[in-house]
Amino acid sequence: MGKRVTVFNPGPAMLPDPVLERVQTEMLDFAGTGMSVMEMSHRSKQFEGVLNDAVSRIKRLLRLGERYHVLFLQGGASLQFAMVPMNLAQDGKSVAYVDTGSWASKAVKEARLLKKDVTLVASSTDRDYTYIPKNIAIDENLSYLHLTSNNTIRGTQWHYFPESGDVPLVSDMSSDIFSRLFNPEPFGLIYAGAQKNAGPSGVTIVIIREDMLERTPRDIPTMLKYSTFTESNSLYNTPPCFAIYVVGLVMQWLEENIGGLENMEDLNRRKANLIYDYLDNQDFYRNPVERDSRSWMNVVFRLPTQELEQDFIQEANQVGLVGLKGHRSVGGCRASLYNAVDLKAVESLVDFMKEFVRSKG
Ligand SMILES: Cc1ncc(COP(=O)(O)O)c(C=O)c1O
Repeated sequence: MGKRVTVFNPGPAMLPDPVLERVQTEMLDFAGTGMSVMEMSHRSKQFEGVLNDAVSRIKRLLRLGERYHVLFLQGGASLQFAMVPMNLAQDGKSVAYVDTGSWASKAVKEARLLKKDVTLVASSTDRDYTYIPKNIAIDENLSYLHLTSNNTIRGTQWHYFPESGDVPLVSDMSSDIFSRLFNPEPFGLIYAGAQKNAGPSGVTIVIIREDMLERTPRDIPTMLKYSTFTESNSLYNTPPCFAIYVVGLVMQWLEENIGGLENMEDLNRRKANLIYDYLDNQDFYRNPVERDSRSWMNVVFRLPTQELEQDFIQEANQVGLVGLKGHRSVGGCRASLYNAVDLKAVESLVDFMKEFVRSKG
Protein backbone atom coordinates (compact mmCIF):
# COMPACT_ATOMS: atom_id res chain seq x y z
CA MET A 1 0.00 0.00 0.00
CA GLY A 2 1.27 3.50 -0.85
CA LYS A 3 1.89 6.17 1.76
CA ARG A 4 -1.15 8.13 2.97
CA VAL A 5 -0.93 11.82 2.09
CA THR A 6 -2.43 14.92 3.69
CA VAL A 7 -5.49 15.88 1.68
CA PHE A 8 -6.21 19.61 1.48
CA ASN A 9 -8.90 19.04 -1.18
CA PRO A 10 -11.92 21.35 -1.17
CA GLY A 11 -14.42 18.48 -1.54
CA PRO A 12 -14.56 15.56 -1.79
CA ALA A 13 -12.12 16.03 1.01
CA MET A 14 -10.09 14.30 3.67
CA LEU A 15 -11.89 11.87 5.97
CA PRO A 16 -10.63 10.87 9.43
CA ASP A 17 -8.37 7.81 9.38
CA PRO A 18 -10.38 6.01 12.11
CA VAL A 19 -13.50 6.33 9.94
CA LEU A 20 -11.80 4.88 6.85
CA GLU A 21 -10.31 2.07 8.93
CA ARG A 22 -13.71 1.24 10.41
CA VAL A 23 -15.23 1.16 6.91
CA GLN A 24 -12.48 -1.20 5.89
CA THR A 25 -13.05 -3.60 8.77
CA GLU A 26 -16.81 -3.64 8.18
CA MET A 27 -16.65 -3.88 4.40
CA LEU A 28 -17.41 -7.60 4.08
CA ASP A 29 -19.38 -8.08 7.27
CA PHE A 30 -21.33 -5.23 8.78
CA ALA A 31 -22.32 -5.93 12.40
CA GLY A 32 -22.45 -9.70 11.95
CA THR A 33 -24.77 -9.58 8.92
CA GLY A 34 -22.16 -11.16 6.63
CA MET A 35 -22.67 -8.38 4.09
CA SER A 36 -21.58 -4.88 3.31
CA VAL A 37 -23.85 -1.89 3.94
CA MET A 38 -23.72 -1.53 0.12
CA GLU A 39 -25.47 -4.88 -0.27
CA MET A 40 -28.14 -4.39 2.35
CA SER A 41 -31.80 -3.58 1.77
CA HIS A 42 -32.55 0.01 2.61
CA ARG A 43 -35.74 -1.34 4.21
CA SER A 44 -33.83 -3.68 6.54
CA LYS A 45 -33.74 -3.20 10.31
CA GLN A 46 -29.95 -2.95 10.16
CA PHE A 47 -29.97 -0.11 7.68
CA GLU A 48 -32.73 1.71 9.48
CA GLY A 49 -30.52 1.50 12.55
CA VAL A 50 -27.62 3.03 10.61
CA LEU A 51 -29.79 5.87 9.34
CA ASN A 52 -31.44 6.61 12.69
CA ASP A 53 -28.08 6.58 14.46
CA ALA A 54 -26.69 9.14 11.98
CA VAL A 55 -29.77 11.35 12.49
CA SER A 56 -29.52 11.18 16.30
CA ARG A 57 -25.84 12.03 16.25
CA ILE A 58 -26.41 15.03 13.96
CA LYS A 59 -29.19 16.28 16.24
CA ARG A 60 -26.99 15.93 19.32
CA LEU A 61 -23.92 17.51 17.76
CA LEU A 62 -25.81 20.54 16.43
CA ARG A 63 -28.09 20.71 19.51
CA LEU A 64 -31.16 20.73 17.32
CA GLY A 65 -34.44 21.01 19.17
CA GLU A 66 -37.55 18.86 18.70
CA ARG A 67 -38.78 21.01 15.86
CA TYR A 68 -36.04 19.98 13.43
CA HIS A 69 -36.01 17.09 10.96
CA VAL A 70 -32.71 15.76 9.59
CA LEU A 71 -32.98 14.42 6.05
CA PHE A 72 -30.64 12.66 3.64
CA LEU A 73 -31.30 13.68 0.05
CA GLN A 74 -29.57 13.38 -3.30
CA GLY A 75 -28.77 15.90 -6.02
CA GLY A 76 -26.05 17.68 -4.05
CA ALA A 77 -26.21 21.11 -2.50
CA SER A 78 -26.83 22.30 -6.07
CA LEU A 79 -30.32 20.78 -6.12
CA GLN A 80 -31.08 22.65 -2.89
CA PHE A 81 -30.52 25.91 -4.77
CA ALA A 82 -33.80 25.04 -6.54
CA MET A 83 -35.65 23.05 -3.84
CA VAL A 84 -35.39 25.89 -1.33
CA PRO A 85 -37.30 28.48 -3.41
CA MET A 86 -39.69 25.82 -4.75
CA ASN A 87 -40.72 24.76 -1.25
CA LEU A 88 -40.26 27.84 0.89
CA ALA A 89 -41.25 30.87 -1.22
CA GLN A 90 -44.54 32.33 0.02
CA ASP A 91 -47.12 34.17 -2.08
CA GLY A 92 -46.72 37.93 -1.96
CA LYS A 93 -43.32 37.79 -0.29
CA SER A 94 -39.98 37.92 -1.96
CA VAL A 95 -37.09 35.55 -1.35
CA ALA A 96 -33.93 37.28 -0.12
CA TYR A 97 -30.31 36.41 -0.84
CA VAL A 98 -26.86 37.65 0.06
CA ASP A 99 -24.48 37.25 -2.83
CA THR A 100 -21.05 36.35 -1.51
CA GLY A 101 -19.87 34.86 -4.81
CA SER A 102 -19.69 31.54 -6.67
CA TRP A 103 -22.11 29.16 -4.90
CA ALA A 104 -24.20 31.97 -3.43
CA SER A 105 -24.59 33.41 -6.95
CA LYS A 106 -25.71 30.01 -8.21
CA ALA A 107 -28.39 29.86 -5.53
CA VAL A 108 -29.67 33.26 -6.68
CA LYS A 109 -29.66 32.06 -10.28
CA GLU A 110 -31.94 29.09 -9.53
CA ALA A 111 -34.44 31.21 -7.59
CA ARG A 112 -34.60 33.57 -10.58
CA LEU A 113 -35.00 30.67 -13.03
CA LEU A 114 -38.02 29.60 -10.99
CA LYS A 115 -39.38 33.13 -11.48
CA LYS A 116 -39.43 33.90 -7.78
CA ASP A 117 -39.36 37.53 -6.71
CA VAL A 118 -35.71 37.72 -5.67
CA THR A 119 -34.40 40.52 -3.45
CA LEU A 120 -30.64 40.80 -3.26
CA VAL A 121 -30.26 42.30 0.21
CA ALA A 122 -26.47 42.54 0.03
CA SER A 123 -23.55 41.58 -2.15
CA SER A 124 -19.78 41.72 -1.92
CA THR A 125 -19.22 41.76 -5.66
CA ASP A 126 -17.98 45.38 -5.48
CA ARG A 127 -14.69 44.21 -3.93
CA ASP A 128 -14.41 40.93 -5.78
CA TYR A 129 -16.14 38.91 -3.04
CA THR A 130 -13.31 39.43 -0.55
CA TYR A 131 -15.59 40.14 2.40
CA ILE A 132 -18.88 39.28 4.09
CA PRO A 133 -21.39 42.17 4.01
CA LYS A 134 -22.31 43.75 7.36
CA ASN A 135 -25.33 45.62 8.73
CA ILE A 136 -27.83 44.00 6.45
CA ALA A 137 -31.26 45.61 6.58
CA ILE A 138 -34.01 43.00 6.62
CA ASP A 139 -37.57 43.69 5.62
CA GLU A 140 -40.13 41.62 7.54
CA ASN A 141 -41.98 40.81 4.33
CA LEU A 142 -39.58 38.12 3.14
CA SER A 143 -40.14 34.39 2.73
CA TYR A 144 -36.61 33.71 3.95
CA LEU A 145 -33.09 35.08 3.89
CA HIS A 146 -30.54 32.82 2.21
CA LEU A 147 -26.84 32.99 2.91
CA THR A 148 -23.82 30.80 2.23
CA SER A 149 -22.15 30.40 5.62
CA ASN A 150 -18.76 29.56 4.15
CA ASN A 151 -17.64 30.47 0.65
CA THR A 152 -15.46 27.57 -0.38
CA ILE A 153 -14.04 29.22 -3.49
CA ARG A 154 -13.49 32.76 -2.18
CA GLY A 155 -12.28 31.77 1.29
CA THR A 156 -14.76 33.91 3.22
CA GLN A 157 -17.02 32.89 6.10
CA TRP A 158 -19.83 34.41 8.16
CA HIS A 159 -18.61 34.75 11.75
CA TYR A 160 -21.97 36.09 12.90
CA PHE A 161 -25.42 35.58 11.45
CA PRO A 162 -27.71 38.55 10.75
CA GLU A 163 -30.61 39.27 13.11
CA SER A 164 -33.58 38.42 10.97
CA GLY A 165 -36.53 38.69 13.37
CA ASP A 166 -39.38 36.49 12.15
CA VAL A 167 -37.77 35.91 8.77
CA PRO A 168 -36.24 32.42 8.79
CA LEU A 169 -32.62 32.11 7.79
CA VAL A 170 -31.74 29.51 5.18
CA SER A 171 -28.11 28.55 4.84
CA ASP A 172 -25.92 26.61 2.52
CA MET A 173 -23.47 25.21 5.09
CA SER A 174 -21.82 22.76 2.70
CA SER A 175 -18.31 23.74 3.63
CA ASP A 176 -18.53 24.55 7.33
CA ILE A 177 -21.27 22.44 8.88
CA PHE A 178 -19.96 20.58 11.95
CA SER A 179 -16.90 22.85 12.10
CA ARG A 180 -18.28 24.99 14.95
CA LEU A 181 -21.23 25.53 17.23
CA PHE A 182 -23.98 27.99 16.31
CA ASN A 183 -27.50 28.69 17.47
CA PRO A 184 -29.82 26.79 15.11
CA GLU A 185 -32.99 28.59 16.27
CA PRO A 186 -33.11 31.35 13.60
CA PHE A 187 -32.70 28.80 10.81
CA GLY A 188 -35.70 27.47 8.95
CA LEU A 189 -33.51 25.29 6.79
CA ILE A 190 -29.85 24.30 6.54
CA TYR A 191 -28.36 22.21 3.78
CA ALA A 192 -24.94 20.77 3.09
CA GLY A 193 -23.40 18.39 0.59
CA ALA A 194 -21.67 15.83 2.82
CA GLN A 195 -18.39 15.68 0.94
CA LYS A 196 -16.42 18.22 3.00
CA ASN A 197 -16.97 17.91 6.74
CA ALA A 198 -19.48 15.10 6.94
CA GLY A 199 -18.62 12.17 4.70
CA PRO A 200 -18.39 11.08 1.08
CA SER A 201 -20.18 12.70 -1.84
CA GLY A 202 -23.58 11.41 -2.89
CA VAL A 203 -25.67 12.54 0.04
CA THR A 204 -26.93 15.97 1.04
CA ILE A 205 -27.89 16.70 4.62
CA VAL A 206 -31.00 18.86 4.95
CA ILE A 207 -32.15 20.17 8.33
CA ILE A 208 -35.63 21.61 8.21
CA ARG A 209 -37.74 23.22 10.92
CA GLU A 210 -41.25 21.83 11.29
CA ASP A 211 -43.03 25.11 10.47
CA MET A 212 -41.31 25.31 7.07
CA LEU A 213 -43.20 22.21 5.93
CA GLU A 214 -46.51 24.07 5.97
CA ARG A 215 -45.29 26.11 3.04
CA THR A 216 -44.83 23.24 0.58
CA PRO A 217 -46.98 23.82 -2.52
CA ARG A 218 -49.03 20.83 -3.70
CA ASP A 219 -48.06 21.10 -7.34
CA ILE A 220 -44.36 20.33 -7.25
CA PRO A 221 -42.94 16.89 -8.08
CA THR A 222 -42.91 14.39 -5.22
CA MET A 223 -39.13 13.98 -5.23
CA LEU A 224 -38.67 17.74 -4.89
CA LYS A 225 -40.87 18.15 -1.81
CA TYR A 226 -39.25 18.17 1.61
CA SER A 227 -42.43 16.70 3.10
CA THR A 228 -41.94 13.53 1.02
CA PHE A 229 -38.75 12.88 2.97
CA THR A 230 -39.89 14.03 6.41
CA GLU A 231 -42.88 11.68 6.10
CA SER A 232 -40.74 8.70 5.09
CA ASN A 233 -37.66 9.22 7.31
CA SER A 234 -35.61 9.82 4.11
CA LEU A 235 -36.75 6.43 2.79
CA TYR A 236 -39.27 7.39 0.11
CA ASN A 237 -37.01 5.79 -2.49
CA THR A 238 -33.60 4.12 -2.28
CA PRO A 239 -31.30 6.54 -0.45
CA PRO A 240 -27.50 6.68 -0.85
CA CYS A 241 -27.09 4.01 1.83
CA PHE A 242 -23.33 3.72 1.89
CA ALA A 243 -22.79 7.49 2.04
CA ILE A 244 -25.28 7.76 4.93
CA TYR A 245 -23.42 5.00 6.77
CA VAL A 246 -20.11 6.85 6.41
CA VAL A 247 -21.73 10.12 7.54
CA GLY A 248 -22.85 8.26 10.68
CA LEU A 249 -19.28 7.12 11.32
CA VAL A 250 -17.94 10.66 10.87
CA MET A 251 -20.54 11.88 13.39
CA GLN A 252 -19.47 9.15 15.80
CA TRP A 253 -15.84 10.24 15.36
CA LEU A 254 -16.87 13.84 16.11
CA GLU A 255 -18.69 12.80 19.26
CA GLU A 256 -16.33 10.15 20.60
CA ASN A 257 -12.86 11.01 19.30
CA ILE A 258 -13.12 14.81 19.17
CA GLY A 259 -15.62 15.29 21.99
CA GLY A 260 -18.21 17.40 20.19
CA LEU A 261 -18.37 20.65 18.29
CA GLU A 262 -16.97 22.89 21.02
CA ASN A 263 -13.72 20.95 20.83
CA MET A 264 -13.87 20.82 17.04
CA GLU A 265 -14.35 24.57 16.89
CA ASP A 266 -11.41 25.13 19.20
CA LEU A 267 -9.20 22.93 17.02
CA ASN A 268 -10.38 24.63 13.85
CA ARG A 269 -9.67 28.06 15.34
CA ARG A 270 -6.14 26.98 16.22
CA LYS A 271 -5.56 25.55 12.74
CA ALA A 272 -6.79 28.70 11.02
CA ASN A 273 -4.83 31.01 13.34
CA LEU A 274 -1.65 29.11 12.64
CA ILE A 275 -1.79 29.67 8.90
CA TYR A 276 -3.23 33.21 8.96
CA ASP A 277 -0.65 34.34 11.53
CA TYR A 278 2.04 33.10 9.22
CA LEU A 279 0.44 34.77 6.18
CA ASP A 280 0.22 38.08 8.04
CA ASN A 281 3.87 38.11 8.98
CA GLN A 282 5.57 37.75 5.62
CA ASP A 283 5.15 39.29 2.18
CA PHE A 284 5.64 36.42 -0.26
CA TYR A 285 2.15 34.90 -0.01
CA ARG A 286 -0.93 37.11 -0.05
CA ASN A 287 -4.41 36.40 1.29
CA PRO A 288 -6.93 38.77 -0.37
CA VAL A 289 -9.73 38.38 2.21
CA GLU A 290 -10.64 41.03 4.80
CA ARG A 291 -9.57 39.88 8.24
CA ASP A 292 -12.96 39.58 9.89
CA SER A 293 -14.33 37.62 6.92
CA ARG A 294 -11.63 34.99 6.68
CA SER A 295 -12.70 31.40 6.37
CA TRP A 296 -11.42 28.89 8.91
CA MET A 297 -12.12 26.15 6.40
CA ASN A 298 -10.70 27.37 3.09
CA VAL A 299 -7.59 29.51 3.18
CA VAL A 300 -6.93 31.12 -0.20
CA PHE A 301 -3.58 32.66 -1.07
CA ARG A 302 -1.60 33.94 -4.03
CA LEU A 303 2.11 33.78 -4.75
CA PRO A 304 3.97 36.51 -6.65
CA THR A 305 3.51 34.78 -10.06
CA GLN A 306 1.41 32.02 -11.60
CA GLU A 307 4.61 30.09 -12.39
CA LEU A 308 5.52 30.11 -8.70
CA GLU A 309 2.00 28.97 -7.85
CA GLN A 310 2.36 26.01 -10.20
CA ASP A 311 5.74 25.10 -8.70
CA PHE A 312 4.30 25.44 -5.20
CA ILE A 313 1.41 23.07 -5.90
CA GLN A 314 3.66 20.56 -7.64
CA GLU A 315 6.40 20.55 -5.00
CA ALA A 316 3.83 20.32 -2.19
CA ASN A 317 2.37 17.28 -3.94
CA GLN A 318 5.77 15.64 -4.01
CA VAL A 319 6.03 15.86 -0.22
CA GLY A 320 2.53 14.50 0.34
CA LEU A 321 0.61 17.78 0.76
CA VAL A 322 -2.05 17.46 -1.92
CA GLY A 323 -5.05 19.43 -3.17
CA LEU A 324 -3.65 22.96 -2.80
CA LYS A 325 -4.77 24.32 -6.17
CA GLY A 326 -7.28 27.17 -6.07
CA HIS A 327 -10.66 26.80 -7.78
CA ARG A 328 -10.39 27.01 -11.56
CA SER A 329 -12.64 30.10 -11.61
CA VAL A 330 -10.26 32.19 -9.44
CA GLY A 331 -6.83 30.53 -9.70
CA GLY A 332 -4.14 30.78 -7.01
CA CYS A 333 -3.80 28.37 -4.12
CA ARG A 334 -6.22 27.17 -1.49
CA ALA A 335 -5.76 24.99 1.58
CA SER A 336 -8.99 23.42 2.77
CA LEU A 337 -8.69 22.72 6.48
CA TYR A 338 -11.79 20.65 7.11
CA ASN A 339 -12.29 18.73 10.34
CA ALA A 340 -10.22 15.69 9.36
CA VAL A 341 -7.15 17.84 8.62
CA ASP A 342 -5.44 18.02 11.99
CA LEU A 343 -3.19 20.64 13.57
CA LYS A 344 -0.09 18.64 12.69
CA ALA A 345 -1.07 18.70 9.02
CA VAL A 346 -1.41 22.49 9.12
CA GLU A 347 1.98 22.76 10.84
CA SER A 348 3.50 20.68 8.03
CA LEU A 349 1.90 22.96 5.46
CA VAL A 350 3.21 26.13 7.11
CA ASP A 351 6.69 24.57 7.39
CA PHE A 352 6.52 23.72 3.70
CA MET A 353 5.43 27.27 2.86
CA LYS A 354 8.41 28.67 4.77
CA GLU A 355 10.79 26.27 3.09
CA PHE A 356 9.39 27.17 -0.34
CA VAL A 357 10.06 30.87 0.30
CA ARG A 358 13.62 30.06 1.37
CA SER A 359 14.25 28.14 -1.84
CA LYS A 360 12.50 30.56 -4.25
CA GLY A 361 12.05 33.86 -2.49
C1 LIG B 1 -20.68 26.23 -0.42
C2 LIG B 1 -21.00 25.23 -1.50
N1 LIG B 1 -22.26 25.13 -1.94
C3 LIG B 1 -22.59 24.25 -2.91
C4 LIG B 1 -21.66 23.43 -3.49
C5 LIG B 1 -22.09 22.48 -4.55
O1 LIG B 1 -22.27 21.25 -3.95
P1 LIG B 1 -22.67 19.94 -4.75
O2 LIG B 1 -21.51 19.58 -5.60
O3 LIG B 1 -22.93 18.96 -3.65
O4 LIG B 1 -23.88 20.24 -5.55
C6 LIG B 1 -20.34 23.49 -3.05
C7 LIG B 1 -19.33 22.59 -3.65
O5 LIG B 1 -18.16 22.69 -3.45
C8 LIG B 1 -20.01 24.41 -2.04
O6 LIG B 1 -18.75 24.52 -1.60
